[in-house]
Order: sequence, then structure tokens, then C-alpha cells
Amino acid sequence: MKRIGVFTSGGDAPGMNACTRAAVRHALARGLEVYGIRHGYQGMVDGDIIPLTGESVSGIIGRGGTILGTARCKAFLTPEGRAIANERLRTFEIDGLVACGGNGTFEGGTIFFEEYGIPMVGTPGTIDNDLYGTDFTIGYDTAVNTAMQAVDKIRDTAESHSRTFFVEVMGRRAGFIAIDVGIATGAEFIAIPERETNFDALCNYMEGFPRPKRHIFIISEGDQYGGAMKFAEDFRKRFDIETRVTILGHVQRGGPPTARDRILATRLGSAAVQALIDGERSVMAGEIKGEVVLTPMRHTWERRAEITPSLCDLVELLR
Ligand code: F6P
Repeated sequence: MKRIGVFTSGGDAPGMNACTRAAVRHALARGLEVYGIRHGYQGMVDGDIIPLTGESVSGIIGRGGTILGTARCKAFLTPEGRAIANERLRTFEIDGLVACGGNGTFEGGTIFFEEYGIPMVGTPGTIDNDLYGTDFTIGYDTAVNTAMQAVDKIRDTAESHSRTFFVEVMGRRAGFIAIDVGIATGAEFIAIPERETNFDALCNYMEGFPRPKRHIFIISEGDQYGGAMKFAEDFRKRFDIETRVTILGHVQRGGPPTARDRILATRLGSAAVQALIDGERSVMAGEIKGEVVLTPMRHTWERRAEITPSLCDLVELLR
């Protein structure tokens, strides 16, 4: 292996830059040449590929977003798009890839490897924490802290007005962010995609409060009941109280990565390059119980990261 390509793909996540920095500097230190592929698979298809030096990644360890850019690339979903991507990589004589991304990135990466045989090692980069093969994904800790701080602020105003707030957090089809934010903010209820909501039980709980009081409920996008707006609407119909909805949205994806995310990203970015050098061909470098673990790339998106739904019961016990 002489020349590798590094790219970030899918939804950006705080810590992607720290991962890029580690991958680039590790590769250079081991005598490899490094190219940056801009905007994920889109840059592979378009040939938007640039040489990177140690200087190119200077000062980025603490920056949110991704200096390489990212995208959700439709062309790469097609055999024709992947054929073009393969030709581009051959033109640039890239013989190994390091990817930082989530489920979609690794599904595409698995198929691409099976079709064209260019070795690819992934690192888990998504705020959702929904990848099999790692305890935590790069960006998750930052997103949870961002959402937690937002809910702390919402609590102040909710308290002042004795209002009921439904705060919707991201996570796509996984409730990891909702559960951790709910626990960290002392919320009274959490709705997640992995578990059916017992709306009547929630109403019974509310009936225990004869006078308006501050309430904070954390709703994961993709929850089975239908999202924060639906909760608020149904509450308005049922109770004579003031409700408000806050959808935190993309604020959870930005900002400087926490120390935990910078360290995880640095460790895994570096491990991914070493894995390529060691001859790994289609794996993801994750961290499990403090150790770097390589998991077949196919498993990362075919299997499910285990959630602990009973933690929702814990918040209800402690409310
Ligand atoms: O996968 C990360 C994520 O932020 C999800 O939590 C969310 O559902 C999705 O991406 C939003 O995607 P987009 O930025 O493309 O709207």
C-alpha cells in the first residue's frame, strides 16, 4: 500500500476532523501518501480528490463539521456510480480507503469493496450511536452534551411558566440520544423508536398534578407515537395546560467536539490506518470496553447496536 484516500460521509458529526487529522498524520508517519476525497462518495464519483499534508490538517482537532465536506451521495447507490468511483480511484492510484461515517457509508463501502476489491477501513462517525461494533460513535458524546445543555435552558423557562415541554432530539431510528439526554436532565418521560409509548400511562401520571407545573418530556425523532408535535397536540386536547415543543434539530450536529469525542476519533482514525497497513480489507475500527476492535464492515450495518430500553423506566422511577 502506497497511497490512501481519506473521506467523511453521511451526516457530519463533531470529531470527524479529529479523525481525519489522526488518519492523515498516522499515514504520513508510516510513509504513505494521503489524498482527501471531498464530500464523501460524491467526491469519489466526481474525482474531487486532493493531496493532503500534515499541514492540511493543522489546527482542526477541536473544530466541528468536517473540513473534507460530506454528502449523502445518490450516484453511489447505483452500479454505474460505483464504477465511475472505482475508475477515479484507479486514476489517482489510491489503493486503500479510510472512511468516517455511519450505516449508509458502510453499507455502500461493503458493496464497493465486494465489487472492486479496494480495501476500506471505517471509523464510526455519527451522532446517533447506532452502529454495531463500537460502544460509542464519534460525535455522540458531543451531541448528547449539546442537547443536555439545551434542555437545561428549557427547564429554566418551563419552570418560570409552569409549562409542559416536549423536546425532540435526533437519533434517526435509534433512541440512544433520547435516553442519555433524558437521564442527564432528570426528564420525566422518554419516548424512543425501540419501544411503544403507553400514552394512557403518561396521562395517568399527568393527572397526579392538579395544578399546572413544569414538565420536561424527551422525545426521540422516529419514536413510535409520532413525534413531539403529536404528543403536544394530544396533550392539548386532553388537558387544559400550556404545552410547548422544541425540536433541537441540527444544533446537535455542530460545535466543537468534547474531549471524549476528540480522543475516540484520534484513536480510531489512527487505528484505521494501521489496520489498512496490516492488510485488513473491509472492517470498521471501533472501541469496545476501552479496546480498539475491528468488526467486519458488513456487520456494522446488518446488525443492531444494543440499546437499553429499561433506562426509560429508570427516569420514570426517579421522577
Ligand atoms: O444520522 C445523523 C442524523 O443527524 C440523524 O440523527 C437525523 O435523522 C439525520 O441525520 C438528519 O439528516 P439530514 O441532515 O440529512 O437532514
